[in-house]
Amino acid sequence: MQFPERFSNLPEYAFPRMRALLDEHAGGGNVIHMSIGEPRHPMPDFVGELLERHAGEFAKYPPNEGTAGLRSSITRWIGRRFNVELDPELHVVPINGSREGLFNAALALLPERKAGDVPIALMPNPFYQVYSVGAIMAQAEPMFVAANEETGFLPDYANLPKDVLDRVAIAFVCSPSNPQGGVASSEYWAELLRLAEAHDFVIFADECYSEVYRNTPPIGALEVAKNIGADPERLVVFHSLSKRSNLPGLRSGFIAAGPKTIALTKKLRAYSGAPLPLPIQHVSEAVWGDERHVNLSRKLYQEKYVVVDEIMGDVPEYHPPSAGFFLWLPVWDGEAMALKIWKNTGVRVLPGAYLSRPTAEGDPGAGYLRVALVAEINEMRTGLEAIRACL
Ligand SMILES: Cc1ncc(COP(=O)(O)O)c(C=O)c1O
Repeated sequence: MQFPERFSNLPEYAFPRMRALLDEHAGGGNVIHMSIGEPRHPMPDFVGELLERHAGEFAKYPPNEGTAGLRSSITRWIGRRFNVELDPELHVVPINGSREGLFNAALALLPERKAGDVPIALMPNPFYQVYSVGAIMAQAEPMFVAANEETGFLPDYANLPKDVLDRVAIAFVCSPSNPQGGVASSEYWAELLRLAEAHDFVIFADECYSEVYRNTPPIGALEVAKNIGADPERLVVFHSLSKRSNLPGLRSGFIAAGPKTIALTKKLRAYSGAPLPLPIQHVSEAVWGDERHVNLSRKLYQEKYVVVDEIMGDVPEYHPPSAGFFLWLPVWDGEAMALKIWKNTGVRVLPGAYLSRPTAEGDPGAGYLRVALVAEINEMRTGLEAIRACL
């Protein structure tokens, strides 16, 4: 059996690739996992009880569009966090985590043709891997646009040639960005929204790290769109409880967008989507309504940023992450360095190139390591000191 041709160039996924690189060798010390971005701070303490209370509802088919309670809890959160009023009936749809939503929204919204040609899906390079597969699945052409130090770790789409921009149907942006920890400013979003209007494309804003930040809450694309009076159909925003609430296993997030976009997404999901089980919808409703656990978790990340700066501050070209829970560490050769660190210390980190694609201009991930700052702070410190000693 073989993949159909459109998937034939898909590299092995990042984590099996890392295992193939490292597991041929013994680790040089107590194993510390700093590769996978799985949150490890406590989840909200009320989840278990609520799940138990609603467990009987696993016996029912859940509504595709989400319960009214969940949708209202989501729009109230958007109102508090971004100062944007949305209609829970029209503007949001719950999803099984942002990965599923990004994939299915791309299927629902990518056209067959754009400007008389195959449509382009722009994505930052490096990027969260589902962006490319969503684009390929819909038979669009993924285009990888460097998001490196020179571009402020966000893709500079405005500088692409006009004929390329005219073929763009979707532009993915991740802010705060995984892996670089960059944050899009309000000017960045405003310029991109204008570009989307001028070239008739839709922005997919992946904001699943929006609640993990150092100082100031990152501005949301929804807020900027409202402030500049952008067409609401230009923007599709993705959020998740995985990082905000340390519930990656709950598989719960939402899409917020203009009413036409949401109607199309819901229509396709009615055929092929997997709605969130009802007990999960009840839990999610309560979790979006609570900020206490989010503030506690953020405080732990803020303490971690201080430790990261202290240990890595003198690494040449070190960029302190502004948000998110990754360190994007410049090391010249990410693969060789990940292997050296594993062999010398037992710390497992991900070569940056496993999250990027080589292009004619080079591979913007090749000289980096992605280090996940998810472990308990003392374990994280031990891991970072071990990495530092290898550089
Ligand atoms: C940038 C980015 N987007 C989306 C996701 C998907 O998260 P989830 O599906 O758990 O919401 C992740 C998870 O690591 C991510 O890093």
